[in-house]
Amino acid sequence: MSSPEIYSPGLEGVLAGETAISTVSDGLSYRGYSVGDLAEKCSFDEVAYLLLHNELPTPRQLAEFQARVAAGRRLPDPLHSLFKSLPRWTSSMDALRTAVSILAHFDQDTSDNSHDANLRKAERLLAQVPLAVADHYRISKGLQTVPARKDLSHAANFLYMLNGSEPNPAAVRALDVSLILYAEHEFNASAFTARVVCSTESDLHSSIVAAIGALKGRLHGGANEEVMELLQKAGGPEGAEKWVREALARKERIMGFGHRVYKAGDERARILKVHARKAAEAAGNLRWEETADIIERVVLAEKGLHPNLDWPAGRLYHCLNLEIPLYTPIFVMSRVAGWSAHVIEQLGHNRLIRPRARYTGPARRSVKPLAELGWGSRLGRRLPIFG
Ligand code: ACO
Repeated sequence: MSSPEIYSPGLEGVLAGETAISTVSDGLSYRGYSVGDLAEKCSFDEVAYLLLHNELPTPRQLAEFQARVAAGRRLPDPLHSLFKSLPRWTSSMDALRTAVSILAHFDQDTSDNSHDANLRKAERLLAQVPLAVADHYRISKGLQTVPARKDLSHAANFLYMLNGSEPNPAAVRALDVSLILYAEHEFNASAFTARVVCSTESDLHSSIVAAIGALKGRLHGGANEEVMELLQKAGGPEGAEKWVREALARKERIMGFGHRVYKAGDERARILKVHARKAAEAAGNLRWEETADIIERVVLAEKGLHPNLDWPAGRLYHCLNLEIPLYTPIFVMSRVAGWSAHVIEQLGHNRLIRPRARYTGPARRSVKPLAELGWGSRLGRRLPIFG
């Protein structure tokens, strides 16, 4: 057994595998296309196809893909019964994690790990996740669920199911851009989690359930919900500077800032900021944009930290009248494409992911039998019952 010498806390700077899906070197790109180019010229549906099928689709391939995804927009009845019986305080992310686990029971391909079966499962999950988010949301509010539409895109159908009305095209486009930017990000914590799970030859649904658990944390996807809460705590442009200086003095983390890889700024945040501002202008309320600008200036000056994608995403979703507990589930609606691509890639040339750890426990020592401590023989004798 070799004795590894390389140790990097949090695996910072470690190359933990190979991928052809995306890279953050020289700016983020998915399968060779920069995210800026994709966000400007493509729809999320095209980008999801790119991630799952390696190339951007032709018009015909896109139509066939959208038809397959639309046909998968169905949830098994027991999932609705479960949503109705979950405790009132269940968060949307927890409900979604459970929903994906339940969907595994109803998918005829769950235990088939072949490439084709994994693609079928990935497309079905892409179809089902927005339904689970929208249906749980409406049920938790005591509202009737709205049947999915087959003629709408991923983003448009979600807004339609959530609100029960025809979505506004500008809102659909803004949400769509955010989904493109959220879709994939190399070996982030949740994608790596998905790869670790499937590297044991477990299945795609198990990998996605675990990835949702990893995304939920506030250092990862959970930050987009905290961003809007933070802006509300800051109270508006009047008190923003005082609030953020005091928060930094208390050594609080300002959600939506900093990144493990991007130390000079996250281009996804720069792209989405434009859309967040446009949506705020359309809503006739620039209050949170102005508050955000002040906080950005102070955090950069005091800590040298730039905003990450979650910073404008929280504000954009607020302008689209989406409630805060939906923000991280919306991230899942998009990232499920990237996670699935990682599972498929990992299984394509799998090697069990099993690193080593630096041991920090006690030095080797020997067991003292209980008998020697006055407790009689340790084996074959009942322990005394206390209390
Ligand atoms: N607010 C205040 N200080 C921060 C922040 C922040 N958001 N981020 C980092 N710092 C500080 C740390 O306290 C630390 O300071 P110190 O050296 O004085 O102790 C220093 O910057 C380095 O921080 P690390 O935690 O070592 O940086 P790391 O690369 O591990 O962290 C992370 C990256 C976890 C994203 C961090 O920046 C953070 O907590 N940000 C807030 C949460 C967030 O926005 N997450 C979303 C990530 S992007 C995404 O998931 C789409």
